Amino acid sequence: MAILGIDIGGTGIKGALVDTETGEMMTDRLRIPTPQPATPKAVIKTVKKIVKHFDYAGPLGVGIPSVVIDGVVKSAANIDDGWIDYPGQKALAEAIRSPVTLLNDADVAAIAEMRFGAGHHHPGVVMIFTLGTGIGSAMFVNGRLVPNLELGHIFMRHQKKDAEEYASDRIRQEKELDWKQWGGRLNEYFQYIEALFSPQLIIIGGGVSKKHQKFLKYIDIRTEIVPAQLLNQAGIVGAALAAPSAA
Ligand code: BGC
Repeated sequence: MAILGIDIGGTGIKGALVDTETGEMMTDRLRIPTPQPATPKAVIKTVKKIVKHFDYAGPLGVGIPSVVIDGVVKSAANIDDGWIDYPGQKALAEAIRSPVTLLNDADVAAIAEMRFGAGHHHPGVVMIFTLGTGIGSAMFVNGRLVPNLELGHIFMRHQKKDAEEYASDRIRQEKELDWKQWGGRLNEYFQYIEALFSPQLIIIGGGVSKKHQKFLKYIDIRTEIVPAQLLNQAGIVGAALAAPSAA
């Protein structure tokens, strides 16, 4: 089934048609820069543009960098504060006149990795992290998602900073860290995560995951840690998988 998946990010809003049976993208990805400020109105307008570009009429899955409970957005770390308590799922459905599922962006990326990627059929506790503007986090326990984990905001007490202000890919670029320096920061972060959660597999996603050979070697933990297989397509593919009729 061809379903449109949309991934709202801090810097870009991306969409493509996805074959939900194979997890493959059926079209090129369209990327439009995230409007600034990223208010609900401006972002919904951009989503409508993407729907129009693909001449799409049907159910839609959307990932957003926020906690989402029952379709209502509850946090806004890298988008405008106007999203807090905003009924995003309902507003999107009204705007495109089709049913919509709105979920946290890391959760949808994890849904894709668990169905078609590095977490396929993996039992136990699997954690997925997306390294980008922020740090997205998701956890599956025996194939079931524990939604809305916000481990990008755990406090790194030696650094006196939120983890994503220390180890996200945005910080790597802003501070011009080399791979070893950034890898060292990731090492601190994942040692902390391992101590708190004892996962059985960690999957690293986000655009930078395609360069995994440059930084994964600096992460020294006992947990198996692997790059995402869908790389930066996971957000779009997972969104499509989460769309109302694709379940
Ligand atoms: C947000 C999360 C999101 C992550 C990745 C964080 O700042 O709080 O909800 O999953 O960024 O976009």
